[in-house]
Amino acid sequence: RKGNATKEQIRLHNLVQQLPRAIIIGVRKGGTRALLEMLNLHPAVVKASQEIHFFDNDKNYARGIDWYREKMPFSFPHQITIEKSPAYFITEEVPERIFKMNSSIKLLIIVREPTTRAVSDYTQVLEGKERKNKTYHKFEKLAIDSSTCEVNTKYKAVRTSIYTKHLERWLKYFPVEQFHIVDGDRLITDPLPELQLVERFLNLPSRISQYNLYFNATRGFYCLRFNIVFNKCLAGSKGRTHPEVDQSVVTKLQKFFHPFNQKFYQITGRTFNWP
Ligand code: A3P
Repeated sequence: RKGNATKEQIRLHNLVQQLPRAIIIGVRKGGTRALLEMLNLHPAVVKASQEIHFFDNDKNYARGIDWYREKMPFSFPHQITIEKSPAYFITEEVPERIFKMNSSIKLLIIVREPTTRAVSDYTQVLEGKERKNKTYHKFEKLAIDSSTCEVNTKYKAVRTSIYTKHLERWLKYFPVEQFHIVDGDRLITDPLPELQLVERFLNLPSRISQYNLYFNATRGFYCLRFNIVFNKCLAGSKGRTHPEVDQSVVTKLQKFFHPFNQKFYQITGRTFNWP
């Protein structure tokens, strides 16, 4: 089976599998799934439904670029294919590998307030442990080094939220103009303006409208309306309830991230109201 298209449709419409011209490289828990699904509302955008993990997984990467292309959905030649694999943002080898495929590719990064993102990251891991009936440390224990009482920079959920550190690695390969930063907090509360900025960045005509997005009070999130008969919300795993975190730990983390955030604003030219 080739995506959703039959052999006959592929032949009739000259459908092709195209390498992505834009990639959502991260950040994990930033709202990468919501962004991909919402961009897919645009008639000129086709999404790779699964995370491909081509550039961050050595085994996949060794399979070569044709393997990667074959993972892509069928599309019309004028459409652009987008994939998302949030591990790309934090994995050492990825910028160089993507550069070798296409040095002018457009890179999307969706970020959230760093402490919230770290707690969201923790919540996802916690849920995985609970599913296996395993116990897990409290967030506070992981995020703070008990011997120094300082922020534990070895903890992955903390490290991933130091956005500027990762971005600086990417900037060795790509100019800053090739990145677009999406405000993941605003994508939750008011997605349309964020999507319009992405349309502009991708040089696409503005096609996503308020009609395509409706707030679902039960879900507590925006859901997607493709047309009169087809709409959908994201899976229940998107939008988990976070555990309550000790306020002193939250404050400590916010203070820790502050200088990195300033640097991130400076580099990207996009400023957020993060504490
Ligand atoms: P939480 O689970 O912390 O609320 P990712 O897809 O990168 O894993 O990001 C998951 C996050 O996307 C969720 O984090 C959720 O807040 C956010 N999100 C943004 N828009 C959403 C939407 N329309 N429906 C569900 N989740 C959405």
